[in-house]
Amino acid sequence: MSCEMFGKDIYVKRRADLKHKINNGIALFLGNGEASINYTDNTYNFRQDSTFIYFFGIRQPDLAAIIDFDSGEEMIFGNELNIDDIIWTGQQPTIADYAKQCGIEQTLPLHQLSAYVKKCASQGRKIHYLPQYRGHNILKMEQLFGWSTNQIVNGVSIELIKAVVDLRSVKNTEEIIEIEAACAIGYEMHTTAMRMVMRAQNEHQIHSMVDSIPLKYGGATSFATILTQNGQTLHNHFHDKPIRPGRLMLVDAGAETAMGYASDFTRTFPVNGKFTSRQKDIYQIVLDANNRAAELAAPGKTYKSVHLECCKLIASRLSDLGLMRGNIDDAVAAGAHALFLPHGLGHMMGLDVHDMENLGQEYVGFDTTTKPVEQFGTSSLRMGRTLQPGFVVTDEPGIYFIPELVAKWRREQTNAEFINFDKVEQYLDFGGVRIEDDLLITESGVRRLGKQRIPATVDDVEAEIAKGL
Ligand code: GLY
Repeated sequence: MSCEMFGKDIYVKRRADLKHKINNGIALFLGNGEASINYTDNTYNFRQDSTFIYFFGIRQPDLAAIIDFDSGEEMIFGNELNIDDIIWTGQQPTIADYAKQCGIEQTLPLHQLSAYVKKCASQGRKIHYLPQYRGHNILKMEQLFGWSTNQIVNGVSIELIKAVVDLRSVKNTEEIIEIEAACAIGYEMHTTAMRMVMRAQNEHQIHSMVDSIPLKYGGATSFATILTQNGQTLHNHFHDKPIRPGRLMLVDAGAETAMGYASDFTRTFPVNGKFTSRQKDIYQIVLDANNRAAELAAPGKTYKSVHLECCKLIASRLSDLGLMRGNIDDAVAAGAHALFLPHGLGHMMGLDVHDMENLGQEYVGFDTTTKPVEQFGTSSLRMGRTLQPGFVVTDEPGIYFIPELVAKWRREQTNAEFINFDKVEQYLDFGGVRIEDDLLITESGVRRLGKQRIPATVDDVEAEIAKGL
């Protein structure tokens, strides 16, 4: 298990910044444990909790950390390897070695965590902890502290959530360098898929190559790759189809660096190497929406407003094609565009591909002035709040023809005044198009992350595919 880390000053500063935000009590950070696939010793690749990585950098299983906001003390709890472990894993750095690397001197065996936390609780001190997303960690908290599941779920510290979100939302230079590295790997993943598509017999062949690329760099995929000729299914993880002439291949894939930072890109391209004119029409609308988002996004603007502008662009251009009709502002206000774009423009990205989603979307993607929307489509917008320099967000508009959704809306006459269902039904075999880039919000606007943009224009995409012949 590797443990690439930043220099220790970075972790020391992050924890100092957290201490400035919270006045009293202790914060308990539970690292992740191994997770079994089918029996105890056969485990998924270990993934440390991202907030644990952020403050401590250590990517080893079964650790916990405490920050005491009253005394300023910091400590890592974990068990050193014994001879039985070493036989299987080999000698590894000690917990004390790892702790030093993140600037912490005090380490204690894991069994002392229970007594430590119980003592603080019995003194009436606040125990701050974050929402738990792994059942195993909830069980661990039940066993260690004697709390019920309900207590654990209801007792999360909103103060700690808000403080962590504040810190992790703004990426600084060293984080951007890591995200750029993940983007470079993402570039290779996507151009590989493009170059393979005319030689592959089936999706599995392309998928296996795409997923192998981050491994070469000591990383992993940042989420389960979506690679499909049925891009109308938003998160399609089936890769079992033969390449079928005339289809569009949608690839939504990203890398995670060895330090845990993510990239997330989507490209859609014709398996024949050339877009048909109908594919080009739809593709160009999505590309224009993607570019428009990158023009509009800037500090002080809400990402919700950028999302809605892109929805209007899409609705207007679908009207030009005869698929929508009526007043565009009214159509978007009614949510009619969501027949074609039933998701949001993007999400935060960082140590998690959907950064901090486990901490609660109302804190991560929204704020006191920008609230989540309940309307179908925009309800899936994960990031709506006011943008600040240092935020990294995805820009991923799409247009999809989802036969089941079209049938439902037609049957129920949903937004019928804005939708030309007869025309839409001519596109039911189309699939879907999504184009996704990763944006850094700068002082004056945005910068697309990655040294070079993954081919995105019709000409550039076709040229990239041709390189594989
Ligand atoms: N790119 C996959 C997702 O955003 O869920």
